Amino acid sequence: MTEAHEQARSAAREPSVDPATDPSTEEVFDADIHAKAREVIARYPHSRSALLPLLHLVQSVQGYVSREGITFCARHLDLSEAEVSGVVTFYTMYKRRPCGQHLVSVCTNTLCAALGGDAVYRRLCEHLGEDGRPLGHEETAGTPGEQGSITIEHAECLAACDLAPVLQVNYEYFDNQSPDSAVELVDALRDGDRPAPTRGAPLTDFRSAELQLAGFFPEEAEQSRSDVDAPTAAEETVRGARLARDRGWTAPAMPDDVALPEVEQK
Ligand code: FES
Repeated sequence: MTEAHEQARSAAREPSVDPATDPSTEEVFDADIHAKAREVIARYPHSRSALLPLLHLVQSVQGYVSREGITFCARHLDLSEAEVSGVVTFYTMYKRRPCGQHLVSVCTNTLCAALGGDAVYRRLCEHLGEDGRPLGHEETAGTPGEQGSITIEHAECLAACDLAPVLQVNYEYFDNQSPDSAVELVDALRDGDRPAPTRGAPLTDFRSAELQLAGFFPEEAEQSRSDVDAPTAAEETVRGARLARDRGWTAPAMPDDVALPEVEQK
C-alpha cells in the first residue's frame, strides 16, 4: 500500500473510541460480545484479519450486520466504517436485513437448476409467501428472529453438484431435494422441529450457526466435537475415489523434467 493510500485510509477512520463504551453500539453489544471480539482478534497476528469472524459474531447477536455492527467491527479493528461496509457488501454470507430463525439457501446454479433446483426455489417462495405474493430473495416469512421464521435465498453452487438439487438450512446440507421434500422441511422448521441434515453437523438456528462460524462452540465438549467432526462427505462424492483405490488406479505422475512456472513474490 502506498503512503498516499495509507493517508487516505487514516483520514477515513473514525477517531479512536473505546469499543466497549461506544454509545453508538452499547445498546446492542454487551460485555460478553466485546470479550468474545477481543478473543477473536487475539487469534490473528494482524487485527484486521479478524474482520470476517467478527462479522459472524455480529450476526450471531442481531441476525444481520446492522449499522451498529459495522461500527462495532470498525472500532475493534481500527478500520474505517467504509472499509467494513466494503467487506459486508462483497460477501453474500453477510446479511443486510434481519434473518429469520432459519436461513434456507436453495441452489439454483446450473446443475441444480437443471435437475429441479429452480422448481424447488419457486415452490418454496410460493409456499412461504402470503396473500398470493411469493416471497423473494432474502425475504422472510414470519418475524425475523422469532420461532419458526424463515428467510429464503437462492444461492450459487453449494459444492454438492453430485447430490443435486440441494439446499442448505443454516449452511447444513439437505441433498437430493424435490419441491415436496423442501416444503415438508420448511413446515417442520416452522413447527419448531430440527430435522437432521443429510450429513454434517446437527441443525441449530441461524444465530447459533453464526456463533460457530465466529469460532465459538457449545459448552459441552462432546457436543462441540460432534458439530465440528460430523462426517460431511457423501457416499456419492467418495465413490470414485473408493473405486480407484480398490482397483489400484492412480493419477499419472508428473514428469521430473517439467519445470514449474515461477511465482512472483509479493
Ligand atoms: S450446482 Fe448446485 S451444488 Fe453445484
